[in-house]
Amino acid sequence: MQDVSGIKKFHEERFGREPVLFMAPGRVNLIGEHTDYADGFVMPAAIDFATLAAISPNPNNNATVSSVNFGVSVHRSLDEIGTSGSHHWSDYPFGVLSILQQEGIDVPGFDMTLDGNVPLGAGLSSSASIEVASMLAMLHVAEASLPLQKIALLCQRAENDYVGAPCGIMDQFVSCCGAADQALLLDCRSLEYRLAPIPKHLSLVICNTMVKHSHAGGEYGTRRAEVEEGTAILRRHRPEVRLLRDATVEDLERWGHEMPPNVLKRCRHVITENIRTVAAADALEASDLDTLGRLMAEAHASYRDDFEASCREADIMVELAIKQAGCVGARLTGGGFGGCTVNLVESANAERFATNIAAGYKEITNIQPEIYQSHASAGAHRLTESAVLSKK
Ligand code: GLA
Repeated sequence: MQDVSGIKKFHEERFGREPVLFMAPGRVNLIGEHTDYADGFVMPAAIDFATLAAISPNPNNNATVSSVNFGVSVHRSLDEIGTSGSHHWSDYPFGVLSILQQEGIDVPGFDMTLDGNVPLGAGLSSSASIEVASMLAMLHVAEASLPLQKIALLCQRAENDYVGAPCGIMDQFVSCCGAADQALLLDCRSLEYRLAPIPKHLSLVICNTMVKHSHAGGEYGTRRAEVEEGTAILRRHRPEVRLLRDATVEDLERWGHEMPPNVLKRCRHVITENIRTVAAADALEASDLDTLGRLMAEAHASYRDDFEASCREADIMVELAIKQAGCVGARLTGGGFGGCTVNLVESANAERFATNIAAGYKEITNIQPEIYQSHASAGAHRLTESAVLSKK
């Protein structure tokens, strides 16, 4: 966790008012990739890396958002937020404000400071953590409250409509509803979820390939369009297939030949990934780590070969990981095309694991990776004064 006294001081010096503080974490996804927008299953966990939002009301009809990370502020009239962004980091907080305005929530003038340590563009949901922290903060000054699930949905809308990134619900949901030491199995259709404890002797080790990815265009959207193309073909035969969640491997065997080969592969990934994800949650609950590790390996292979959303560097990272002592499972996590791998590693071996991976990866790729140790952490919440003081 970051030093929360830093952002408080920054805010007070900049805006002259004592702020209220909120945090929202990033996430890793243990399994279930590109299944959320097909109403499928995902099993992420919130992580120790988070965005902090410090907020105080101002008496004017405007909003200033200040980023400690970027060292800049953006100032806007509340009447000029609009409904689409301008490809700037401030689209995330202003997108959240726009959606709250559209929902009829009367957010008064405010000053907000954002500070975060979720690596940007690394597939760890820095965007969702900014959105969720911002929304909690703005709801506070609006003296409004919403259920966490609704907050997740509204933040997703901000990202889809204002930022223009066609993401699903996973990242915002787990940033809101994650729990300490637990993975979260989410049914992305009903939004029902159950928590499964991550065994105490395991660590989450996150290895950053340092290959950047971006969602606001490009490959993520292409994959989503391919999945939708395949779904439409199956729906012609089985109208009850609203999304790929409703389709089976048998459907693909029967009608897959009507799809372009790449579309067939994308659909096969999503349909089999849903099956693996539910099985992985059962395995985690039963402490069957062999099965969990095997499912993560199969998920990575499917992401690489059928969904074609991995990259050479991520494949190298995973291959290095599975050879290490104490590695239960490893795979590329998040939207794909770069970013981080998630590794479940016996804690006693975690340090050695990190050292070996960093050295091996550097040797093969000539890239110095970043390696983060994390726990599964709690979801978004207000930081109480005692939490602030205890960090000083
Ligand atoms: C990104 C999106 C999520 C999800 C994953 C892939 O993180 O924001 O909604 O689709 O990619 O599983």
